[in-house]
Amino acid sequence: MSAPTEFVTWFRSAAPYIRTFSGQTFVIAFDGDVIEEGNFTDLTHDINLLVSVGVKVVLIHGARPQIERAIKAKKLKPVMSSARIRVTDEQSLTCVKEANGRLRLEIEALLSMGLPNTPLAGSPIRVTSGNFVIAQPKGVINGVDHLYSGDVRKVRCEAINKRLEDGELVLISPLGYSATGEIFNLTYEDVATEVAVAIGANKLIYLSDQAGLSDKKGNLLQELTTSALKLQAKNKTKDPLQDRIKASLIKASEGGVDRLHVIDRKINGGILLELFTHEGIGTMVSRDPLETIRNATLDDIGGILSLIEPLENEGVLIKRPRENLETEIQKFTIVEHDGLVVGCVALNPFGKEKIGELACLAVHSSFQYAGVGERLLKAIEKNCAKQKLTHVFVLTTASSHWFLENGFRQTNLTALPKAKANLYNYQRNSKIYIKTIK
Ligand SMILES: CC(C)(COP(=O)(O)OP(=O)(O)OC[C@H]1O[C@@H](n2cnc3c(N)ncnc32)[C@H](O)[C@@H]1OP(=O)(O)O)[C@@H](O)C(=O)NCCC(=O)NCCS
Repeated sequence: MSAPTEFVTWFRSAAPYIRTFSGQTFVIAFDGDVIEEGNFTDLTHDINLLVSVGVKVVLIHGARPQIERAIKAKKLKPVMSSARIRVTDEQSLTCVKEANGRLRLEIEALLSMGLPNTPLAGSPIRVTSGNFVIAQPKGVINGVDHLYSGDVRKVRCEAINKRLEDGELVLISPLGYSATGEIFNLTYEDVATEVAVAIGANKLIYLSDQAGLSDKKGNLLQELTTSALKLQAKNKTKDPLQDRIKASLIKASEGGVDRLHVIDRKINGGILLELFTHEGIGTMVSRDPLETIRNATLDDIGGILSLIEPLENEGVLIKRPRENLETEIQKFTIVEHDGLVVGCVALNPFGKEKIGELACLAVHSSFQYAGVGERLLKAIEKNCAKQKLTHVFVLTTASSHWFLENGFRQTNLTALPKAKANLYNYQRNSKIYIKTIK
């Protein structure tokens, strides 16, 4: 029966994320379409799950389709300025207030709904909303007075953080209140950006109408750095909403938000797939490249073990007790991806014979065929050169061709240092490959 096995594998692979996310704050931003399209109930389950693993959640909603409909119903003429910003006059402000008020109540009702027949039955979400955003008028841009269209002036972050600490979910509408008691129409992207930065959120997640961000040819960009996104955002697209999301991601990242995600709002469980699987389903933006190669430390032992244990159980790698790992950790080089160990290799030097043994090479199955193995091999070769070793050898049962394709040639026991040759396990019958260090 494969389903339980799959579940156990999945649950184990999700465990490091659960550990990391517990106590973190996520800002989740979405436009009013999520409610219109009827996807919010599924989203509620996912949000509830995030809360139950200790994530503090702030929801920021937009209300564009609802506002547009209300404006149309009142036969008002929507006015967009040359800066692609809606001008909100007094009549449209009434529509904005009504649409946002109604939507907020609907969202609160959906979040308050019991969740019978779900894994989260009996764990209601306590929602709080309030005057968390102080606004100011946009004023006159290119000669056009934007009236009640505003900008975020200040976020009452202590108030938000206090509610989050009390275990509540904070729901914020794209409206801001001014010191003079006026209400301003804001974009939910601006609110999401400013709130995420002000409260020091760990993640800002956009539920978008697209699969994520894409390149010029329309291919999904799964991961990119803020600087790469900045280059990309220089060319404005035909889609002002995507451009706004990009601008928000850049500003939030530069303001200290670690990880930014854009995912397809129509995928059921999209947030969980993006956050709890290695591959994700949308786009993730980070300030620094997500992948680094470095020497391992004692803190990496847990990660290395979870990488090599399945291969040890299959007999691909020789079993290595945890104590050995602790004493030999300085021999290991790892590739880390977004905080997870996804590749490792060890170098056992035989100084007298000027030869090194490459051991315990493993790449996580979700990250294979992407050059991780090759990078680890290069690191080992560099390390050999530094230690003035002239050759590196490996004993392998499963990956002969990989080593041949990476410049190794087959050899025999006579090429090995005596101490190693004496320990050769004839039953295991590993093949021996060697490479000259240049
Ligand atoms: C062998 C291993 C480290 C390669 O890592 P990787 O990051 O996927 O490798 P790279 O991305 O650098 O190289 C990918 C290429 O190697 C090939 N390749 C991957 N595993 C291979 C294997 N076991 N045998 C032959 N070729 C292999 C791929 O087909 C790909 O070739 P292509 O570029 O022509 O499509 C990885 O498959 C692994 O961890 N295997 C299980 C553990 C193991 O066997 N370790 C070696 C014990 S000493």
